[in-house]
Amino acid sequence: MNDFNLDGKTAVITGASRGIGLAVAQKLAQYGAQCILVSRKVENLEAAAAGIRDMGLKAEAMACHTGHPDQIKALYEKIVEKYGTLDILVNNAATNPHFGEMITADEEIWDKTMDVNIKGPFFMIKYAAPLMKNSGAIVNVASVNALKPGMLQGVYSATKAALVNMTQTLARELAPKGIRVNALLPGLTDTKFASAIISSDKILNYALAQIPMGRYATPEEMAGTVLYLVSDAASFTTGTTIVCDGGMLA
Ligand SMILES: NC(=O)c1ccc[n+]([C@@H]2O[C@H](COP(=O)([O-])OP(=O)(O)OC[C@H]3O[C@@H](n4cnc5c(N)ncnc54)[C@H](OP(=O)(O)O)[C@@H]3O)[C@@H](O)[C@H]2O)c1
Repeated sequence: MNDFNLDGKTAVITGASRGIGLAVAQKLAQYGAQCILVSRKVENLEAAAAGIRDMGLKAEAMACHTGHPDQIKALYEKIVEKYGTLDILVNNAATNPHFGEMITADEEIWDKTMDVNIKGPFFMIKYAAPLMKNSGAIVNVASVNALKPGMLQGVYSATKAALVNMTQTLARELAPKGIRVNALLPGLTDTKFASAIISSDKILNYALAQIPMGRYATPEEMAGTVLYLVSDAASFTTGTTIVCDGGMLA
C-alpha cells in the first residue's frame, strides 16, 4: 500500500505556472494525479503543463484569473465537461501588490489583494465541493504572515490570516461530505513572489536572521507537505495548518 498514491485522481492547482504552484503540480503528477494547472497567462501556463507532460506525466493548462468568480465558474464548467468530478484542489495563487505601511494602502490595492487572496480561494472551493463525490482534499496555501504579519505587508498578511480562518470553517462544514480542508503556511521561499526580499542583500539578511535554519526554502520543499495533506496519509487531518518556515515561528 502506498498512502501517497494519487493514481486516478484529478487535481486543480492555481498559480501553477511557476514557483510553489508549479512544484506542487509536478509533485502531484509524479504521484499519479491528472493535474490541471491554472493561472492567468496562457503562454507560461501551457509551457509549464508541457514540461510536466514531457516527464511522461499527466498535466493540462486552463487559464483563469482567480480573482474573478465568473472566470472560476467557467473554469469548472470546462473541468466538469472533461473530467466529470474532482478530487484535489490546491488554492495557491496570490498577489501582494503593496509593500509599505498598511495605512498607506489605497482602495484599489485593498480590493485586488482581497479578490485574489481570499475571495478567489472561497469561490474555487464553493464550486469545487459539489464536484468532490464522497471524498476530496483541499489545501489553501497561506503564509507564515497569517500568524505573524510580515513587515510592510499588512494587507497581504490580513488576507492570509483570513484564509487560515476560512480553512477552519470550511473544514468543519465539509467534513460530513468527506472533504478535508487544510492550509500550508510557507516561510520565505525562492520564487518570483519573494524576489523583492531575496534580491536585496539588506532585506535578505534581515529575513535570514529570523530563520533558525539560516536559509530560504526551495519551492520543492513546499510540495512534499501539500502531497502529504492531499494524500490518504493525512486521512484524519482536516482544519489544520502546517508551517514550513525553517523554524522562523518556533
Ligand atoms: N515565496 C514565498 O516566500 C512565499 C511565502 C509565503 C507564502 N507564499 C505563498 O505561496 C503561494 C505561491 O507563491 P509563489 O511564491 O510560488 O509565487 P510566484 O512564483 O510569483 O507564482 C505565483 C503564481 O500565481 C499566479 N497568479 C498570480 N495572480 C493570479 C490570479 N489572479 N489568478 C490566477 N493565477 C494567478 C501566477 O501566474 P500568472 O501570472 O500567469 O497568473 C503564478 O503562477 C502564494 O499563495 C503566496 O502567498 C509564498
